[in-house]
Amino acid sequence: MANERGNFGTKIGIILATAGSAVGLGNVWRFPFMTGQNGGAAFIILYIGCILLLGIPGMVSEFVIGRHAQSNAYRAYGKISGKKAWRLVGILGILTSTVILGFYAVVAGWCLQYLFASVGGQLRGDANYVTQYFQTFSTDALKPCLWGIAFVLITHLVVARGVQRGIERASKVLMPLLLVLLVVIVVASCLLPGAVDGIRFLLLPDFSKVTHSVLLEALGQAFFSLSLGTACLCTYASYFSRDTNLLRSAMQIALLDTIIAILAGLMIFPAAFSVGVNPDSGPSLIFITLPNVFQQAFSGMPVVGYVIGILFYALLVFAALTSTISMHEIGTAFFHEELKIERRSAAWILTVVCSIICVCCSLSVGAVSDLRVLGYSLMDFCDLLTAQVMLPLGALLTSLMLGWFVSRQTLYDELTNNGTVSRRFFRLWFFCVRFAVPLFILLIFLHQFGVI
Ligand code: TRP
Repeated sequence: MANERGNFGTKIGIILATAGSAVGLGNVWRFPFMTGQNGGAAFIILYIGCILLLGIPGMVSEFVIGRHAQSNAYRAYGKISGKKAWRLVGILGILTSTVILGFYAVVAGWCLQYLFASVGGQLRGDANYVTQYFQTFSTDALKPCLWGIAFVLITHLVVARGVQRGIERASKVLMPLLLVLLVVIVVASCLLPGAVDGIRFLLLPDFSKVTHSVLLEALGQAFFSLSLGTACLCTYASYFSRDTNLLRSAMQIALLDTIIAILAGLMIFPAAFSVGVNPDSGPSLIFITLPNVFQQAFSGMPVVGYVIGILFYALLVFAALTSTISMHEIGTAFFHEELKIERRSAAWILTVVCSIICVCCSLSVGAVSDLRVLGYSLMDFCDLLTAQVMLPLGALLTSLMLGWFVSRQTLYDELTNNGTVSRRFFRLWFFCVRFAVPLFILLIFLHQFGVI
């Protein structure tokens, strides 16, 4: 079974794939715009707190469940707890990741379009033109939908054909390249006139801007960025080998993920302040800021700016793809193994459902602006519902299950690879999972709903 399931080639490959799942638009697109809307540095401090206190223990929890069971999320939750009812948490995760894939594909589609537009040199012009370009494109009835569907289809091809190996190999080169390129763009962006205000915004906390919902937003962003709370990590961990050090892997991935997010912030804000883009412009933030950076920072060498722009969008598309693959894989593994249908057919179920969600979300921020739920556009609603309700809920239930309904010995054996690694940290982790994580998530929920 394990071999038939495992489309992942090597040990290092699966860890890379997990890092690839974490690093994506969550870091480069969502993190900057959330930071911009929530007061800059203060938000980042809360975010890092959430990563350390809730994110890393949460990641380890999903790793433990997945590697223990070596099967899809639904079955894994049942296996480790010995109770079928807990399988519902697996189902919740599969549902959540399907919805996320739906709206994520909209933004991934925008990136794909920007890649082609930058090759064609269409993103050249002053700040007004760049803003206008995004407005015109994103409110078109057809184009953004088609780009979004194209992205879901590319993901489908990779997942259904099981060509993950190629993706793994590519990510070995492309992920470090993304990191290097980010550093280059950060430097360029910080050298723009007036960039200091952006750096100040990112590094000097102003707690007066922190509203009562910021904590939940930081929590949601931390979970979203680590791919936590949907059994996605659990599904990937089911392909890990027996001697993978779960704690160390979780810490490495969380560190990499956080570094990339902060670099993305340092890339966007100095430039945004320099060209006068409002830091709280929301989801459009990176799309209306970056083309300016590529032109203005390299105005003396337009060819360099042109090439860096193309490279950047290409790498962003790749980073988004390694994330969408992971969301697609959760459902595909489930349908394939539980409905006993072929992997390809299983993948199609997901592709069709996600494409429909993607089109509706895309229309809701563009051509059909009355596609609203509870006052939010469908796209914002899906984002809010998943990041601020479903992900924390998934992580809360996972923690409660492990902390209170699974034998401590099973957890110890799994986390420490039968007593060979990370032994010293087991008690700390177990404490977090049993008390700290559930309590904090509950408190944050209660705070959000005004109870405390
Ligand atoms: N973490 C990814 C990013 O930052 C997005 C992602 C991939 C995700 N798989 C997930 C988010 C599962 C939540 C759940 O872009």
